[in-house]
Amino acid sequence: MSTPSISAKVLGLGTYLPERVLTNAELQARPELDTSDEWIVRRTGIRERRLAADDQATSDLSTLAAEACLADTGVSPDAIDLIIVATVTPDMLFPATACLVQRNLAARRAAGYDLLLGCTGFVSALATAAQFITSGSFEHVLVIGADTLSRITDWTDRSTCVLFGDGAGAVLLGPGEPGEGLLSFVMSNNGEASGLLSMPAGGSRLRITPEVAAAHLDCIRMEGKELFRLAVEGIPTAAEDAMRAAGLGPDDIDMMIMHQANIRIIEAAAERFGFPPEKVAVTIDRHGNTSAASMPLALDELRAQGRLSAGDRVLLVGFGAGFALAAAVVRW
Ligand SMILES: CC(C)(COP(=O)(O)OP(=O)(O)OC[C@H]1O[C@@H](n2cnc3c(N)ncnc32)[C@H](O)[C@@H]1OP(=O)(O)O)[C@@H](O)C(=O)NCCC(=O)NCCS
Repeated sequence: MSTPSISAKVLGLGTYLPERVLTNAELQARPELDTSDEWIVRRTGIRERRLAADDQATSDLSTLAAEACLADTGVSPDAIDLIIVATVTPDMLFPATACLVQRNLAARRAAGYDLLLGCTGFVSALATAAQFITSGSFEHVLVIGADTLSRITDWTDRSTCVLFGDGAGAVLLGPGEPGEGLLSFVMSNNGEASGLLSMPAGGSRLRITPEVAAAHLDCIRMEGKELFRLAVEGIPTAAEDAMRAAGLGPDDIDMMIMHQANIRIIEAAAERFGFPPEKVAVTIDRHGNTSAASMPLALDELRAQGRLSAGDRVLLVGFGAGFALAAAVVRW
C-alpha cells in the first residue's frame, strides 16, 4: 500500500447490544435440541448471546450503534458523507440498510450502501471506507458492522443455533496524519469454499416457497468442521500479511481482535503469534458469533476496560462466508 498524505483515522466508536440474553441453560432446556451448556462451552466458548426484540431489525441496531458513535465523536449527522453497513441480515434486500440508517440519523448529506460479506464484512468495510478518506473524496465515513442473525437461524438445528447472536457496532473514520488510523489491510476470497456457509434461499437462486421454508433453506447452513480448518489455516497468513504491509511484526502489536466464531480458533491463532491472553480480545463467551458486529463490539469492550489506548496498534482479522479473509492493522 502506498503512503498517502492523508490517513483514515478512527474518530470514534459506538455499539449496541439488544437487552434479551439467551443462555446456554435455556437451549439445554429444549429437549429437541439435545444439547448442553457443557458441550457448547467446551466446543465453542459461548455461554450466552443477545437476541434482538421482535420489533428490532438490523437498521434499528445499526442506528443505535451509530448514535452512540456520533455521541462519542461529537460529529453531527450532517457531517457524514457516506454510510457503509456491513451485514448479511439487511432489513430487506432493498432498499439498502444504509439508506434506512441515513434516514434514522437524519444524515441528510450522506450516501450509503450495504456490504454483504458476513463475518469478514467489518474489516472489508473499513478498508473500503479508508479509500474515500485517503483519496480526499470524503471527510467522514461511518462504518457499521451489524447483524440480526437470530432471524436467519434454524432454531431446530443444534449444530448452528447455539452459535449466533445479534448486535451492532459503528466507527467513524475521518482524515488523520500519516501513520494514524488504518496502517494496512489485506483481503482475499476462496470462492471454491463458498458452499460451506450460506443462506441458500431468498436471493435470485432460490425463492422462498413454503417447501423451501419447511426445509429451512432460508436459514444459515454451515459445514463447521471444514470452516474451522480454513479459519485456523488462513488467519495466521492474513495476519502476517497485514503486519508485513504495515512494516510491523507480532511484537509491535498491542492488541489482536479476531472475528469471534469459536474460542478454539482464537486461542490457536493467539498461540501461533505468542500473544498472551491480555493481548487478545474475547467476547464470544457473552456475545456468541455476531458476524459483522463482532469486532467493533470487541473494540468497544476493550476500550471500556481500559485495554485500548490512543496510539495502540491493533491487528484485526475477519473470516467467514465466502470463504473470505480480511486483516488490517489500525493505529488507534
Ligand atoms: C461449529 C463447531 C462449533 C462444531 O464443533 P466441532 O467440534 O467441529 O463439532 P462437529 O460438528 O464435528 O460435531 C461433533 C459432534 O457434536 C455434535 N454436536 C453438534 N452440535 C452440537 C450441540 N449444539 N450440542 C451437542 N452436540 C452437538 C455433532 O452432532 C457431532 O456428533 P457425532 O460425532 O455424533 O456426529 C465448530 O466446527 C466451529 O466453530 N466451526 C467454525 C465456525 C466458523 O468459523 N464459522 C465461520 C465464521 S462465521
